[in-house]
Amino acid sequence: MDNLGVPQGPVLVTGGAGYIGSHTVRALERRGVPVIVLDNLSTGHRAAVKVPLEVVDLADRAALGRVFMAYRPTAVIHFAARAYVGESVGDPSRYYRENVINTWNLLEAMRAAACRDIVFSSTCATYGDPVRVPIDETHPQQPISPYGRTKLHMEHMMQDYGRAYGLRWAALRYFNAAGASRDGDLGEHHEPETHLIPLVLGVAQGKRPEILIFGDDYDTPDGTCIRDYVHVDDLADAHLRALSKLQQGSPELVCNLGTGNGFSVREVIEAARRITGHAIPARITPRRAGDPSRLVSGGTRARELLGWTPRTTAIEDIVSDAWRFHRAFPNGYSF
Ligand code: UFG
Repeated sequence: MDNLGVPQGPVLVTGGAGYIGSHTVRALERRGVPVIVLDNLSTGHRAAVKVPLEVVDLADRAALGRVFMAYRPTAVIHFAARAYVGESVGDPSRYYRENVINTWNLLEAMRAAACRDIVFSSTCATYGDPVRVPIDETHPQQPISPYGRTKLHMEHMMQDYGRAYGLRWAALRYFNAAGASRDGDLGEHHEPETHLIPLVLGVAQGKRPEILIFGDDYDTPDGTCIRDYVHVDDLADAHLRALSKLQQGSPELVCNLGTGNGFSVREVIEAARRITGHAIPARITPRRAGDPSRLVSGGTRARELLGWTPRTTAIEDIVSDAWRFHRAFPNGYSF
């Protein structure tokens, strides 16, 4: 943690049974910080949690209040949210309810319990179609999906609560979370799975016959979309740093979390072929609606403010960590 020190607990982690949440819980535990997970297990996995777990939905304000009374957390790390762009277009109501209203419930529970520090999962989807790449934190925020818009509303809510009620908050805008814990027992398992790397590795495992490449006519060197894949353990580390920074008195923090390196869909598939030794058949299909051609993080804020530099940046290393988890748990957490 360099000079930022270890966060003070107990820390309540919402969505701690999910992909990035479970890795962050592990990082807190490693540093001896008491952690409580609050998760409704709608997409998270009980098997990913080894600390006290409260199976509570953020819509249940009474239960939320009881959890704050019982554990008296000094801080919250808030992952719980819906995060499927396509689903948000078809069912925005669910996104406004589960992302925006449930975050309001959480902030009210924090106010009632005098808990004033929150680190929150935001996303590069709040920027929308980039007007310039790399994308730094001053890039205009014009999200193009209900998902991105709900995350932006959540950022604004925290900013307003900060000014009015003294909430100290950090919004971490992730690029493409990827990889799996070095220990090999935590990883990515979504139902349904929509993300490129687990889908590609699923082909290598024989779960799917081929990977579909959504468009090869983009304005990129090989025609496929470029993304900034950031290792989930590096994301976890950034959350701890952000929390320490708030606890040292910073009122608000907004940082991109990416590596600054972009890899194309074809480059990811090539890396997976090398690592798995499997041919991984691929087929070009039309573009997926709403995919910008290039999303790469810019800016130096995370380094300057948090002392954060991602440790794992080579796509081979990221895919290789994900592969270790996929091989150890071919059915994810559904043993
Ligand atoms: N892709 C394919 N085939 C697939 C799946 C994905 O070609 O079967 C491509 C996509 O078109 C995209 C790239 O692989 O170009 C990465 O796609 P992912 O679905 O893995 O990730 P996204 O970039 O779409 O999504 C990420 C986050 C979202 C966030 C979004 C912002 O997971 O939460 O970036 O655009 F909203």
